[in-house]
Amino acid sequence: MLTVENIETFYGETQAVFGASLHVKAGEVVALLGPNGAGKTTTIRSILGLTPAKVGQIRFDGKDITHSDTHDIARAGIGWVPDDRRIFPTLKVKANLQLGKKKTRFRAWSESEMFDIFSALEYLMERDCENLSGGEMQMVAISRALLGSPGLVLFDEPSQGLAPKVVQDVMNTISHLKSEGIAVLVVEQNAMSALKVSDRVYVMDHGKIIHEGPASQLLEDEPLRKSLLGM
Ligand SMILES: Nc1ncnc2c1ncn2[C@@H]1O[C@H](COP(=O)(O)OP(=O)(O)OP(=O)(O)O)[C@@H](O)[C@H]1O
Ligand SMILES: [Mg+2]
Repeated sequence: MLTVENIETFYGETQAVFGASLHVKAGEVVALLGPNGAGKTTTIRSILGLTPAKVGQIRFDGKDITHSDTHDIARAGIGWVPDDRRIFPTLKVKANLQLGKKKTRFRAWSESEMFDIFSALEYLMERDCENLSGGEMQMVAISRALLGSPGLVLFDEPSQGLAPKVVQDVMNTISHLKSEGIAVLVVEQNAMSALKVSDRVYVMDHGKIIHEGPASQLLEDEPLRKSLLGM
């Protein structure tokens, strides 16, 4: 579904990603882990065309999207759950969700399916988003991404600032997407939670992919995990 080949990404003169390659298949959950400043968010920004790669190629669903506009990339079926959620605070929950809706060639999701996943969401629809808790905002951000009928969802630190119960809800949602054949790329500091729901993992450091392998290997091999992730 997604192939990132040897990309190099810059902020002005400053290079943040140095020849990173990764891929995600349909129905596969892939974790992208690594320390602060490793280039994880920048890799996501390159996939979305927000900070396009200067070198290399990004393909999604059979098409070269390396230099496509962000709105065309979204329309092609890439959903995004940003690290800062990017909810419009002065709009109601239902209006924020409405803004995410679009048709693609992939599975469409209804609001009632969102209520099945996040039971609290139904009772938040009339609320202004500025008063939501962190966990409630994350429900809105994830639901908004799904209402856009994605074939691939990019999660950037979805468990950040959430209570353990909500982290579990988010990870269950990721597993649910997998069972629906949707591809998921998840960036996480909470490595153990992410590894438990992932098929494969990439570890990034200083803008480079320094490890690639099955998630189960990093879960089980503590010395390897400590050497790569320090935990
Ligand atoms: N807008 C920007 N302008 C200049 N440099 C940036 C910008 N955004 C990120 N960087 C730099 O690019 C590098 C990679 O940052 P990035 O945000 O991709 O890291 P990350 O792996 O997502 O880290 P974190 O876990 O802290 O979110 C860092 O050195 C960062 O300082
Ligand atoms: Mg980041």
